[in-house]
Amino acid sequence: MLFRLAYYSTNLIKRPTNPAQSELRKLVLSAGTKNRDRGITGGLMFNRNYFAQVLEGDQTSVSDLFCRIAKDTRHRSIVIVHASIVDGRMFEHWSMGLAEKTETAEKLNSKFGLDNGFDPTKMTASELSNYVFEMISLEDHLITVPISTPD
Ligand SMILES: Cc1cc2nc3c(=O)[nH]c(=O)nc-3n(C[C@H](O)[C@H](O)[C@H](O)COP(=O)(O)O)c2cc1C
Repeated sequence: MLFRLAYYSTNLIKRPTNPAQSELRKLVLSAGTKNRDRGITGGLMFNRNYFAQVLEGDQTSVSDLFCRIAKDTRHRSIVIVHASIVDGRMFEHWSMGLAEKTETAEKLNSKFGLDNGFDPTKMTASELSNYVFEMISLEDHLITVPISTPD
């Protein structure tokens, strides 16, 4: 059964001195490969304060992955905003985007009424998933791992 889970959390990763070797970049490249092997798609957004992630795939695989992610010490105060069986995927790939200082982020923040920048505590579950989805569809400076899925 196809399952979608969305959460946000507090980002504990310190700002990198060299963005090319940043902890986030490493995290995303390794997570993307692992997700591809498990047929998991979705998107991860971050800014200096928050992470927000949508995960889609087989119910057991998404659940297992989320339990692992929840133990990761690079974030805390995880809030699940959505978890349900869905008819189809929203996301074709697994990607990560930065939710601040880009033109796309500014456009989306204004569209979603986020005057002080990306803040998942002020968003509904569907706004959060849509924000992640739109960011990933519009932004071309993302780290994306292509995934081929049967569904
Ligand atoms: C915000 C956040 C999102 C993450 N997303 C994923 C993910 O989508 N897929 C993944 O494999 N690991 C993800 N990770 C990393 C996992 O928490 C974990 O470190 C990784 O799966 C390696 O686990 P392992 O050592 O048990 O294999 C994420 C970590 C954080 C902090």
